[in-house]
Amino acid sequence: MKRAVAVIGAGPAGLTLANLIQQSGIDCVVLERGSRTHVETRPRAGVLEHRSVTMLESHGLADRLLMEADRHGTCEFRVNGQAFQVAYSDLYDDRLHYVYPQQEVVKDLIAAFLDAGGDIRFSVSDVELRDLTSSHPTVDWTSADGVREAVTADFVAGCDGFHGVSRPSIPEGVLTEFTHQHGIEWLAILAEAPPSTKAIIYALHADGFAGHMLRSPTVSRFYLQVPVGTKASDWSDEQVWEALHKRFALHDSNWALTEGKIIEKRVLDMRSHVVEPMSYGRLYLLGDAAHIITPVGAKGMNLAMNDAATLSRALTEFYATGSETGLKTYSDDCLRRVWRAQEFSQWMVNMIHTDVSSPFFGRLAQARLEHLAESPAYRATFAENYVGP
Ligand code: APR
Repeated sequence: MKRAVAVIGAGPAGLTLANLIQQSGIDCVVLERGSRTHVETRPRAGVLEHRSVTMLESHGLADRLLMEADRHGTCEFRVNGQAFQVAYSDLYDDRLHYVYPQQEVVKDLIAAFLDAGGDIRFSVSDVELRDLTSSHPTVDWTSADGVREAVTADFVAGCDGFHGVSRPSIPEGVLTEFTHQHGIEWLAILAEAPPSTKAIIYALHADGFAGHMLRSPTVSRFYLQVPVGTKASDWSDEQVWEALHKRFALHDSNWALTEGKIIEKRVLDMRSHVVEPMSYGRLYLLGDAAHIITPVGAKGMNLAMNDAATLSRALTEFYATGSETGLKTYSDDCLRRVWRAQEFSQWMVNMIHTDVSSPFFGRLAQARLEHLAESPAYRATFAENYVGP
């Protein structure tokens, strides 16, 4: 089979790209390891920035999102039993965060792509990339029925996440890898509990960070900072609730945490990782295949979508005019935003965590939060980075 673009992976990066280029009349095939049900029900990230929503909307891909997503423009910090809020939307052009689970984004993007005649192959295995530096790279895979198939394309888009096959297909020595282990991990909890707050809560406590994120009227997401090497099974449900109550506790307030049935408990890898450049020959890396960011600051899905929009513009320009300018600058264009986000996320990691082995950093975090509580200029900078320029 021949296609202009072979897209590997049907996450936010691959599906956004596939929709955008299909709208420009560029044909592609999407190869996805999981089943449709699997990718449409896998809970992952859940926050879209204003600019991601605007981009999706301009391509007619945000109808359900705009109807159903919760809008947030304020977040709350807790430190030393005191709470303060930052109305980041008021501080930055009324821009909002849209809380809309990644699996819903994926559902919408799959439906839009298929409705417009798109070609997705689910449940494929043994994907292999060949001849990436030639003008016609090839991708082989085994279909759900066990048949070995191949596509010859002009370009390959590696959107297959951190553990995918695209990045490892690049010969050793080509990519420079930047990795940072933050020395902390998060226990991520999903509970059938209505939210106990209207605004996301970030709490700094001597025992470690606790977060209360919003998902839906009946389900809430919580995070607990845990020592590196912790297994989810090390924490009983009772211990989880006890720690959440303790770390969120406020002096002089009748605020209460609503408990519910815990439906998911897993430890998140808090690694940061970036590869440069984000391309090799005719292979372009997008999203988690090229960069992993901590969940702090909720940038992951937004960076993936920005990569997709950037590559779509470059490919559209290439097929319309033959110009390779956008393709040549793709990596640098994406990396500027990736590093800005990494810098912010790292800054925020340092503000809301305590290093149990080095209390000095806990005090620095406290000082940073106090600065944020007191200084309008500091809050304005936070708002610009948090909700996105
Ligand atoms: N062959 C085909 N598909 C693959 C392969 C493979 N070898 N390996 C992985 N995949 C698929 C996965 O099943 C997944 O559906 O690639 C897709 C990658 O999707 P994501 O991991 O969601 O990555 P991406 O699209 O880059 O989105 C990044 O997801 O969870 C987040 O925080 C992250 O929000 C960020 C976003």
